[in-house]
Formats: sequence, C-alpha cells, structure tokens
Amino acid sequence: MRGGKFVSCIVVGALVVFTAAFVVMAQQKAADEMSIKAALWPTPTKAAVKFTHKKHAEDYKIACTECHHVYKDGKNVWKEGDQVDKCEKCHNEPTIQGEKKLPPEQQKLNLKLAFHNNCQGCHQKHKKEKPDTTAPVTCAQCHPGAKEGS
Ligand code: HEC
Ligand code: HEC
Ligand code: HEC
Ligand code: HEC
Repeated sequence: MRGGKFVSCIVVGALVVFTAAFVVMAQQKAADEMSIKAALWPTPTKAAVKFTHKKHAEDYKIACTECHHVYKDGKNVWKEGDQVDKCEKCHNEPTIQGEKKLPPEQQKLNLKLAFHNNCQGCHQKHKKEKPDTTAPVTCAQCHPGAKEGS
C-alpha cells in the first residue's frame, strides 16, 4: 500500500522534527538579568536580590564553575551545557538566623550561606584588589531597604 508508506513517512518525519525541537527547547538558557528570590523561605525578610547573570559571565569573565557545581567524590564535575539546578535544590537547609552556629555539615547545605559565601565572598576578595569596585559588599547594597547588619 503506497499511501500507507507515504503516511508513515510523514509520521516519522514529524517525529524527527518534534524531537529536534524538543532537544532545542530542553537546552537551558539563563536570563541575562535575574531577580533572586528562593522559594525555600516561606517568610523571607528581604526583597529579591538583583543579579546580572550575563554581565558576570561575559563582562566580568567569571567561569561558570565559580557558581555552578555538582560534586562527585569531592570534585566539581559540572561542565557547561549540563543541567543547572536551582541552588536551593541542594542547599535546602533553611536557617536564616544563627546559621553560622549550625554544625559544619549543615552549614555547607544552608541556603543563606550558599548565596552569601558565593556572592559576598567573591565581592569581598575583589574589593581588596579593586577598592572602587561596583561589586556590592554591604547588606543594603544587595538588599535594598535593609539596614546594615540587620
Ligand atoms: C557569578 C555566578 C554565576 C556565574 C559566573 C554563572 N552563573 Fe549561571 N546562575 C547563577 C545563579 C545565581 C543562578 C540562579 C540560581 C537559582 O535561582 O537558584 C544561575 C542560573 C543559571 C541557569 C538556570 C537558568 C534557569 O532559569 O533555569 C543556567 C542554565 C546557567 N545559570 C548557566 C550558566 C552558564 C552556562 C554559565 C557560564 C557561561 C553561568 N551560568 C555562569 C550564577 C552564575
Ligand atoms: C547539585 C547540588 C548543588 C547545587 C545545585 C548547588 N550546590 Fe552548592 N554545594 C553543593 C554541595 C554538596 C556542597 C558541599 C561540597 C563539599 O562537601 O565541600 C556545595 C558547596 C557550596 C559552597 C561552599 C560551601 C560554603 O558554604 O562555603 C557554596 C558557596 C555553594 N555551594 C554555593 C552554591 C550556589 C550559589 C548555588 C547556585 C548557583 C549552588 N551552590 C548550587 C551542592 C550543590
Ligand atoms: C567569582 C566572583 C563573583 C561572584 C561569585 C559574584 N559576583 Fe557579583 N560581581 C563580581 C565582579 C567582578 C563585579 C564587577 C566589579 C567591578 O566592575 O568593579 C560584580 C558586580 C556585581 C554587581 C554590581 C554590578 C552589576 O553587574 O549589577 C551586583 C549587583 C552583583 N555583582 C551581584 C552579585 C550577586 C547577587 C551574586 C551572587 C548570586 C554575585 N554578584 C556573585 C564578581 C562576582
Ligand atoms: C553580594 C550580595 C549580598 C550581600 C552583600 C548580602 N546578601 Fe543577603 N542574600 C543575598 C542573596 C542573593 C540572597 C538570596 C535571596 C533570596 O532568595 O531571597 C540573600 C539572602 C539573605 C537572607 C535570607 C532571605 C531573606 O529574605 O530573609 C537574609 C536574612 C540576608 N540575606 C541578610 C543579609 C545581611 C544581614 C547582609 C549583610 C550582613 C547581607 N544579607 C548581605 C545576597 C547578598
């Protein structure tokens, strides 16, 4: 039946096109600018934090692996193109007060420390080399409206 073969050709062709489209869609792309607001905290105390993803990766030339990781036997095995999970998927320890008093293993998975050690940690180092940097280091610079130390 020639008609049948023709139809199955179309079906197979359509499947190939859909699969290709799905693969392209499945490729994750980070937004150029983000507003970080983790869902882990039911009652966050601060507003969302602005983050220029594209500028950090491109203008400031920071390697993806400074911020993205998947540890295996103590080594970061994440590489560009791999799936990126939200920080809070793994850093799901929710303490936002007295988090530095948690046992070390829990501190590693505390979400507030994950953000602060990553963002603020790098900025503090950077400020030592470049005192007039725009990289924010004080609470209020990242958390608009926040009082220092609050
Ligand atoms: C200075 C830190 C930093 C650098 C450098 C960085 N990222 Fe990200 N990226 C983040 C943060 C923070 C998020 C948001 C995570 C969250 O919401 O929990 C993110 C999110 C993403 C996402 C997920 C987007 C989504 O909405 O699903 C992808 C994909 C991604 N980054 C890829 C990359 C790639 C590729 C590079 C290197 C070219 C890179 N990132 C460099 C910090 C960074
Ligand atoms: C796939 C799980 C996973 C994701 C996603 C993840 N982390 Fe981690 N992260 C870990 C693990 C596990 C460790 C502890 C590694 C070790 O034992 O030293 C860690 C360690 C860290 C550390 C060093 C420990 C510390 O507090 O000083 C920082 C900082 C950090 N992560 C920040 C982030 C940020 C920011 C994001 C999101 C952009 C993120 N992580 C996403 C699993 C993850
Ligand atoms: C590995 C280093 C590094 C990490 C990690 C990092 N930054 Fe930065 N950040 C920089 C540098 C470098 C600059 C630009 C400084 C300059 O031009 O003097 C900067 C600038 C900024 C600025 C001001 C300029 C702009 O692009 O808006 C903001 C806001 C900022 N960072 C937020 C964040 C946040 C939020 C995080 C964590 C999610 C983060 N950064 C993580 C290195 C880092
Ligand atoms: C370089 C940027 C940066 C600096 C500086 C910084 N933070 Fe954060 N902080 C973040 C990011 C990013 C998050 C995650 C935001 C979210 O998901 O809501 C966060 C989360 C928090 C949270 C938990 C979420 C909430 O809304 O309650 C608290 C509390 C907090 N920060 C307080 C502080 C205080 C106090 C200081 C100064 C001692 C400070 N931060 C300095 C970037 C920063």
